[in-house]
Amino acid sequence: MLSVSNLSVQFGKRVLFDDVNVTFNGGNCYGIIGANGAGKSTFLKILSGKQEATSGHVHLEPTKRMSVFEQNHNLYDAHTVLETVLMGNKPLYAIKTEIDALYNDYNDANADRIGELQVQYEEMNGWNAESDAAAMLSNLDIKEALHYTDMADLDGKQKVRVLLAQALFGNPDVLIMDEPTNDLDYETIAWLETFLANYDNCVIVVSHDRHFLDAVCTHISDIDFNKINHFSGNYTFWYESSQLAARQRAQQNKKSEEKKKELEEFIRRFSANVAKSKQATSRKKMIEKLDVSDIRPSSRRYPAIIFEREREAGDQILNIEKLSADLDNEVLFDNIDLNLSKGDKVVVFSKDSRATKAFYEIINGKQMAKTGKYSWGITTSQSYLPLDNSAFFSEKLTLVDWLRQWATTEEEREEVYIRGFLGKMIFSGEEALKTADVLSGGEKVRCMLSRMMMLRANVLMLDEPTNHLDLESITAFNNSLKNFKGTVLFTTHDHEFAQTVANRVVELTPKGVIDRHTTFDEYMQDDKIKALREKMYS
Ligand SMILES: Nc1ncnc2c1ncn2[C@@H]1O[C@H](COP(=O)(O)OP(=O)(O)OP(=O)(O)O)[C@@H](O)[C@H]1O
Ligand SMILES: [Mg+2]
Repeated sequence: MLSVSNLSVQFGKRVLFDDVNVTFNGGNCYGIIGANGAGKSTFLKILSGKQEATSGHVHLEPTKRMSVFEQNHNLYDAHTVLETVLMGNKPLYAIKTEIDALYNDYNDANADRIGELQVQYEEMNGWNAESDAAAMLSNLDIKEALHYTDMADLDGKQKVRVLLAQALFGNPDVLIMDEPTNDLDYETIAWLETFLANYDNCVIVVSHDRHFLDAVCTHISDIDFNKINHFSGNYTFWYESSQLAARQRAQQNKKSEEKKKELEEFIRRFSANVAKSKQATSRKKMIEKLDVSDIRPSSRRYPAIIFEREREAGDQILNIEKLSADLDNEVLFDNIDLNLSKGDKVVVFSKDSRATKAFYEIINGKQMAKTGKYSWGITTSQSYLPLDNSAFFSEKLTLVDWLRQWATTEEEREEVYIRGFLGKMIFSGEEALKTADVLSGGEKVRCMLSRMMMLRANVLMLDEPTNHLDLESITAFNNSLKNFKGTVLFTTHDHEFAQTVANRVVELTPKGVIDRHTTFDEYMQDDKIKALREKMYS
């Protein structure tokens, strides 16, 4: 279906891919995994022709069509929902745009050209395209009332559904997806898992979400050591077998027959478990030929995330009274009262991700509340990881100069000092001198974390902090927040993160706040709270 031959990619001295040869077959779902910055997005861009390789070729079977689901979910913000879906069929969309432009500037000279284009549009079934797109959106639960809304006004999970409709528009033979579960809630992720598990064409998907990878993949394609290797099976199988490979490598005095037996036993057990599990999908074939003989232990590294505080905060942390926010006259949350104490680690939760986003923007002075007020304790200092960090990375600064923007003393301005923070986040040597505009999604988040570490605030605010991060970074981050002695306000779709960090849950609803000193699981499972939640959103 799709093959790559002799692919090499290099940026300056940094080699991403060295003579890679891989083939992707129809009917399979490949989960591309690898550390942040390993080259996953770059690889997808090369597959889809958006970026040139240093050398090598990509070959897609003639007559087959490929479509792409982007990592950046805000790319189409200036377009309407329906238009965004239509853009999924590029040739058709190009004709439509030209027709519209010519109509806007109508005269005798361009009338002929319009006629010509309209014939082509008709041949491509263009007039039906709009109704096809509308039907597809409705299937994905994007109601007709939203079809002419700008993408910028949708919440994260609605955007993702529209982008999915765009990618699926015209039933592509190869569907390429870069981190589709970012910005999604649990429910929509579950929906996407079912959808992909039953999609018959070739899917190539980058994800850092274990549960998702296990639910949809027939193969894992690991990017490591500048190569891409396919392994049959899902993520858990890949992970456990690579752990086993590492253990076996260390046991030098064990006989090779014994090791072989151990491997066979491992595969047998795993296959039996998969067969027993309910995860029956049309992609069942995945356990056909499991093989771990060529798995190598990986080269991934853990960043050292440590949040220290310049000084300890007093008892007054944050006081909020009657706070409310809306968007185009729609109530996001209303009548929020909240009093934070030292040591509170709060999951800020809402069914609508636009509500949590607005909440952080307001208490960080980036946006006005509709009504109400908030005040920070005098001894507090805040640092904030926003949901959308793109504004931080528009300038072409080296990472050292980038981080220096937040230095406050002479000592902090010193290169060695800054490199210390970057080094902890695994930007060492040459890596610290690349420019901020070329960073991968996860590398940007690592930079934002270096910035927060340097600010040494006693209140941390984090809106979806695990988005884009690889599993090693998520683990390190998770541990650092458990150990942090200050106050944390955070919003996450990562269950483990919410459950292990929070000691308080605050839910923002259009009818006020639900505020409980409890763990996330207890909150979600409590019947009284369940009933209350239903009432608050109705
Ligand atoms: N023009 C460029 N010059 C130098 N380095 C670049 C350039 N473009 C990309 N890179 C680097 O190439 C590496 C691969 O980036 P890519 O976006 O493919 O990573 P990724 O595997 O998708 O990571 P993530 O999991 O964070 O999304 C990164 O280290 C990035 O900084
Ligand atoms: Mg990426």
